[in-house]
Amino acid sequence: MFLFTTVAEYQTQRSAWQGKTLALVPTMGALHEGHQALIRHARSVADVVVVSIFVNPLQFGPQEDLAAYPRPKAQDLAICEQLGVDAVFYPSPPEMYPEGPDSLTRVVPPVSMTENFCGAFRPGHFEGVATVVLKLFSITQPDVAVFGEKDAQQLAIIQKMVRDLNLPVRIVPHPTLRDERGLALSSRNQYLKTPQEQEAALCLSQILSGVQQALTNAGGSLPAEETLERLQAAVLAPWQSGPVSVRVQYLAAVDAVTFQPVARLQPGVRVLMAAYVNQVRLIDNGLLL
Ligand code: PAF
Repeated sequence: MFLFTTVAEYQTQRSAWQGKTLALVPTMGALHEGHQALIRHARSVADVVVVSIFVNPLQFGPQEDLAAYPRPKAQDLAICEQLGVDAVFYPSPPEMYPEGPDSLTRVVPPVSMTENFCGAFRPGHFEGVATVVLKLFSITQPDVAVFGEKDAQQLAIIQKMVRDLNLPVRIVPHPTLRDERGLALSSRNQYLKTPQEQEAALCLSQILSGVQQALTNAGGSLPAEETLERLQAAVLAPWQSGPVSVRVQYLAAVDAVTFQPVARLQPGVRVLMAAYVNQVRLIDNGLLL
């Protein structure tokens, strides 16, 4: 497996891969089961698999602790090696942003896609994501790039960027990985310390599967707002008192492509949610069938 830390080194090897299909899995490292599924998927769709590992300063807000973000380099490289990755692109911030982030040309996704949901609580975050992803595409020149559906807003924004800017890359979404009880896998699950917190975290997937069930029972169309409110109240009722608090930050139904809220639940609509289980913020989403 190659390990490249500079653009120049990577690009020399990229020329040697001419004629082969190349899949990129962009990550910020601290690779967990979810990332590993993306890498395995990439392995199955392309001749060459490149994983980028870069903790992107542009997507961290002033209140978010960039320095504290985990960087288990040796462990991440061992995982990539074990999964048969051909190359890891592991640049430093100065390699990516030699003139610093302040004077950088940036990608500005449409406000309509960034002002709500996760974007409402993380101003500038999706601009930072879109900018680094475009830059990673330009450097690594993938035919295919694999992204998890768990970060649905990020995925929709990247798909829009690819369409709008005619980028020659195919975005391959990968379904969210779940544990046997339905909890979406996330590096944040490790902060759910007690069995009650772990139980409470299931509220997210229970609400999402409840929505799907209600829609199926109703034969394919339901008013969004009242149905989501009703299901949220029913699932959260047991958690209204006791040592664990569950606080929903948002629960919404959106058009899966434009990410604009929709009035009715129907197949093809994406239901999104974020909730705090005590201090741990979790997100999840599901596409209605
Ligand atoms: O999803 C992530 O890990 C990051 O947002 C990404 C896409 C690698 C960009 O830094």
